[in-house]
Amino acid sequence: MNMLLKAVVLGLAIAALAACGKDPKSAAGFTLPEGDAEQGKANYIAFGCNACHQHSEVPQLQSPLADQVSIKLGGETARVRTYGELVTSVINPSHRIAKHKPGAVDASGESTMVTFNDVMTVTQMIDLVAFLQQSYELSPYRHTVYPVYWQPEVKGK
Ligand code: HEC
Repeated sequence: MNMLLKAVVLGLAIAALAACGKDPKSAAGFTLPEGDAEQGKANYIAFGCNACHQHSEVPQLQSPLADQVSIKLGGETARVRTYGELVTSVINPSHRIAKHKPGAVDASGESTMVTFNDVMTVTQMIDLVAFLQQSYELSPYRHTVYPVYWQPEVKGK
């Protein structure tokens, strides 16, 4: 690689990095606290996620609904590859929809997954995600490391 090309590549890389940092919708810095997976499993059952989903630890409920919607959670999927995508698929299911799955979308193209945003507390969601996270082959997730900010010394102490 000649010098000019190297400089261009470096310039592009820096521009790309700067662009990432500036995206106001960037997920950088997003971190949920550690959840309780056992409690999450209980929440999964309490919220009736098993009405539509199969999970290796919780079988799907038998119902007429199960004949129409039966979506397996966990494993290695193309749609849920990161922790962020897992959280998004719980709180914003229409964001990334598995259109090829029967029963996944309604006539208007929205996800048929019911929304829990008005009934689930953040703590319940954190535990639920901790439970589901174990069953997905997710990319390694790093908790955000917050820098220790310099604090001016308080006079007189
Ligand atoms: C009424 C049926 C229904 C219920 C109840 C339901 N879901 Fe879903 N869920 C779906 C459908 C349909 C999809 C696939 C289409 C989509 O992404 O919206 C889906 C997708 C998902 C996905 C992404 C799946 C993947 O691997 O691609 C996750 C994670 C998920 N749901 C979690 C939950 C959790 C947690 C609950 C309970 C709080 C729940 N769902 C309750 C219907 C449901």
